[in-house]
Amino acid sequence: MHALPTLRRRMRLLIALLLALALPVIGLTTTQTAAAATQKACDIYASGGTPCVAAYSTTRALFASYGGPLYQIKRASDGGTVNVGLRSAGGVVNSAPQVSFCAGTTCTITQLYDQTANANHMPISPGTSCAGCSGGLNGPGPNGADIGANAMALPVTIGGQPAYGVLVNDIGTGYRNNAARNVPTGAQPEGMYMMTSSQLTSGSCCFDFGSAETNDSDDGNATMNAIYYGSACWVGGCTGPGPWVGGDLENGMYFSDNGRNPTNIQSETGMFVSAWEKNNGTTNFTLKYGNGQSGGLTTSYAGALPNGYNPMKVQPSIELGTGGDNSTLGKGEFFEGAVTAGFPSDATESAVQADLVAAGYANNTTTFHRSTSVVSFRAHANGKYVDAPNNTTSLIADATTVGPAETFDMFTDTDGTIGLRAHSDNNWVTAESNGSAPLIANRGGPGPWETFYLLHNPDGSVTLRAYNNQHLVTAENAGASALIANRTAVGPWEEFDLITH
Ligand code: AHR
Repeated sequence: MHALPTLRRRMRLLIALLLALALPVIGLTTTQTAAAATQKACDIYASGGTPCVAAYSTTRALFASYGGPLYQIKRASDGGTVNVGLRSAGGVVNSAPQVSFCAGTTCTITQLYDQTANANHMPISPGTSCAGCSGGLNGPGPNGADIGANAMALPVTIGGQPAYGVLVNDIGTGYRNNAARNVPTGAQPEGMYMMTSSQLTSGSCCFDFGSAETNDSDDGNATMNAIYYGSACWVGGCTGPGPWVGGDLENGMYFSDNGRNPTNIQSETGMFVSAWEKNNGTTNFTLKYGNGQSGGLTTSYAGALPNGYNPMKVQPSIELGTGGDNSTLGKGEFFEGAVTAGFPSDATESAVQADLVAAGYANNTTTFHRSTSVVSFRAHANGKYVDAPNNTTSLIADATTVGPAETFDMFTDTDGTIGLRAHSDNNWVTAESNGSAPLIANRGGPGPWETFYLLHNPDGSVTLRAYNNQHLVTAENAGASALIANRTAVGPWEEFDLITH
């Protein structure tokens, strides 16, 4: 919510407008620069007559007057939650409380707060868990909901201060408000931008930010109007590797009316990339991108909507990190973004880009690659090696020597997660039934249940925490029973020596 009452905010905008009109006449160039510098992205959109109707950031205030919380985090150790806020109204995030709150445990981002008066906050996407959402795709969370991003996985700086972005990965991260207030619907004109990065993208559906269906389901062409950023070229025939900024208009991520990117733009990359989409609902949609640290914007497409997308049929839902139908395979990074009512002018968008550059994003050094090692695990519970003999027998610590059945490929991602593929049957280890059944190596590839955190204990041993249910893997009954992810504290049964071959 705004710190300032509506009347005062309107007065401030009026004064800003009057200043802008008066300055060229009286020629106060220095003052003009100072006044402009105090305006944040959503102040600029408002001055341009296309106000933000939903605005989110984990790094900074998007209104000069905003002094409320940016996002909520939840820690695994005790389920406690805390809001992360600003160093000062209109300033950048104060992330120090997050660092201490999350020390020694895992934190997820559970809510992104809307900085506009509409309070269109985005909790974790309900997926199929909400009434009427059965047409969508399951997320990996409770009852088909999605899961939150690891709050510590994407450290950057803004204005020289430490901050964290939202790391959307392909194991079901997503946020959504399916009852968004005062947002464009139907064929009403709408604009949006987000600050992202090319350091983590994918060719799968869909790393999106913007408007989507209120039921987490595919309701047909033109029922979405969201920014897509990635390298998915569903129509085929794109030029270059991507990623590109596109419009997810439902049943297609469009880089132009025919779907393809311009042949002269093979990719749109940067440590920080600003991504822009606007749509007048009937005759024009426009895509732009920019370097989030310097310079202006490049228009990659401005023209007709694809066949079958005029008029638009947008619904009042705002989402981040999923497709319209809750497709969960997109990957991307999000630092801030806003949706506007109306079709923003090019001048307004260029001014917002200048504000993004002035904000001083830097040090996005998290790199995303998967490294592989070959490992075995010896349980502290009984001193025996963990055995995965085949795809019908659960993992158990019962071996006294190491052979193929006690050996695993360990795939380590730089977001802190690992996956294990058993040498015995070449299948991935899963925390079966979301951890309610023992671990077993019977999956063809990694998904949420096949993802674990590798925790390092003070004595040099490791503990596996299942990504999805957040519970620790134990060698049940001192190793006499199969491994299962159902513990909340580390004791000897949850400790394993990691042996690297
Ligand atoms: O438009 C691309 C995707 O297609 C949408 O995001 C999703 O709802 C559908 O699967």
